[in-house]
Amino acid sequence: MNQDQAKRAAAQAALKFLPEGEPIGVGTGSTVNFFIEALATVKNRIPGAVSSSEASSARLKAIGIPVLDLNSAGTLAVYVDGADEINKHLQMIKGGGGALTREKIVAAASRRFVCIADESKLVQVLGKFPLPVEVIPMARSYVARELVKLGGVPRLREGFLTDNGNPILDVAGLSILDPPKLEAEIGLIAGVVTVGLFARRPADLLLLGTASGVRELHAQ
Ligand code: 5RP
Repeated sequence: MNQDQAKRAAAQAALKFLPEGEPIGVGTGSTVNFFIEALATVKNRIPGAVSSSEASSARLKAIGIPVLDLNSAGTLAVYVDGADEINKHLQMIKGGGGALTREKIVAAASRRFVCIADESKLVQVLGKFPLPVEVIPMARSYVARELVKLGGVPRLREGFLTDNGNPILDVAGLSILDPPKLEAEIGLIAGVVTVGLFARRPADLLLLGTASGVRELHAQ
């Protein structure tokens, strides 16, 4: 099974965790794109979705699933999204696709977070994947200096602005031994919009596409 097949299998497996007749939260990325494809087959059960990006909204609309405003949708039963890295506590690095802020909001507003990923995403220690940090434009250099003090090597994501119009610093060189602590520390730097650590609100369930099928993993 190649990586795309593993992503597709994980995405397909998420269908059985969807509520009947209730809106859901939908994330962003290539694994989620497979999930949206799979949603097309059950769209009569899905009255609408809150999306974490303009890209996913366009895909949802294309298959006829109404895109809802989170302000009127209220608490969502389930949020389905991918990850760039995930550990055994189901804490994640996210934001490789740049949608981390809306992803964190929709995840926070959902009772259950189902992460879909291929097995390359499961790691012992988070941090090999550069940690995305969305910043207010005028704070970019200041935040970068603060991230250096924390031991990171920040690099501006060239030619990219988020759906919120902000730049992203991708921070290499971090070995993240205490993800909730670092999430709080970086989140408190003036000018940081969102840090792509999802540790204080980890996933509740990981559907991991592997060569021998989809494994269901709960936080250890
Ligand atoms: C986007 C994300 C994605 O969930 C993450 O980048 C995983 O993407 P993919 O499914 O393409 O590997 O956080 O901001």
